[in-house]
Amino acid sequence: MIQKINAIQSDLKTQLQQTKNQADLESARVAFLGKKGFITELMQSLKDMSLEEKKEFGPKLQALKQEAEALINQHKETLIKQEAATAQQRQQNFDVTASLPSAHVGHLHPYTQIIEEIETIFLSMGYEVWDGPEFESDFYNFTALNIPKDHPARDMYDTFWTNKENHVLRTHTSNVQIRTMQNTKPPLAGIATGRTYRHEAVDASHDFMFMQCEGMMIDKGVTVAHLFAAAQTFLKTLFNKKELDIRIRPGFFPFVEPGFEIDMRCVFCKSGCSVCKKSTWIEVFPGGMIHPNVLKAGGINPEEYTGFAFGFGLTRLAMLRYGIDDIRLFHSGKIKFLEQF
Ligand code: PHE
Repeated sequence: MIQKINAIQSDLKTQLQQTKNQADLESARVAFLGKKGFITELMQSLKDMSLEEKKEFGPKLQALKQEAEALINQHKETLIKQEAATAQQRQQNFDVTASLPSAHVGHLHPYTQIIEEIETIFLSMGYEVWDGPEFESDFYNFTALNIPKDHPARDMYDTFWTNKENHVLRTHTSNVQIRTMQNTKPPLAGIATGRTYRHEAVDASHDFMFMQCEGMMIDKGVTVAHLFAAAQTFLKTLFNKKELDIRIRPGFFPFVEPGFEIDMRCVFCKSGCSVCKKSTWIEVFPGGMIHPNVLKAGGINPEEYTGFAFGFGLTRLAMLRYGIDDIRLFHSGKIKFLEQF
């Protein structure tokens, strides 16, 4: 019995030496003094001993228990002090100027960035943001837009026809015009950005898929002046210019009458550069007054309402805005290209 007591004493001491935190100390306490701890079990064995043995070992075991409790409490206090000291030291040594290794953060694709920019500008001008399908019926892509079957204007669009009869990959975002007119009562104003598809040979400035931004405003008394003002305000804000001249030329689109090509003064030069092809004007913004046939197809009375529509190449605008000289880069998946944004 004496041997056991001595062994427990020295085991406890070694264990405490190795115990460096309060959680480990608690485990040690349970191992020695817990319900099934070494010391507890030894004390329980007293009841099976003879009276003499009880007299001899009883006080010894009691002393062992007290000593163990004292040692553990003492060690606990030491640990608490040590922990407080380390915490204080850590605070003192805290270096507010230390810099962390930079985390690798992702970023948005240039398309997403310019779409967000464009939407923010138009929202600030009181426009809504609309959406429409890329897989579209002949009706919404052509017929309702005053381009009936067999009309030569269909040749303007190199169309991807699909296996589903009378269905195309939309050639422009103008399909959103009719869909919106059918769902919304004027007065209305909004834009819709998205992918469009044309069967084109791919080179640095042509792709079979590109982005457009459609815009439309319909109300009583809307005129070309509203269209020009909208175009100028938008372009000025996007290119961050206090003043930006626009120029209007006639343009033909079956769904507008009259139709226009709106050009802006080159934002890169004063006297001609490669972007404006030495002309100081950049062609950016096709639009016009919505044709009465189109309003009718959308369920709006052209005697009561007028409206303008525009549909610019968002891809082209992104190329101008960010100085991208090859359209193929957008979908190339080239990390070196994407990392620049
Ligand atoms: N949808 C025409 C195109 O893709 C652009 C346009 C839209 C022109 C709206 C006028 C009005 O070529």
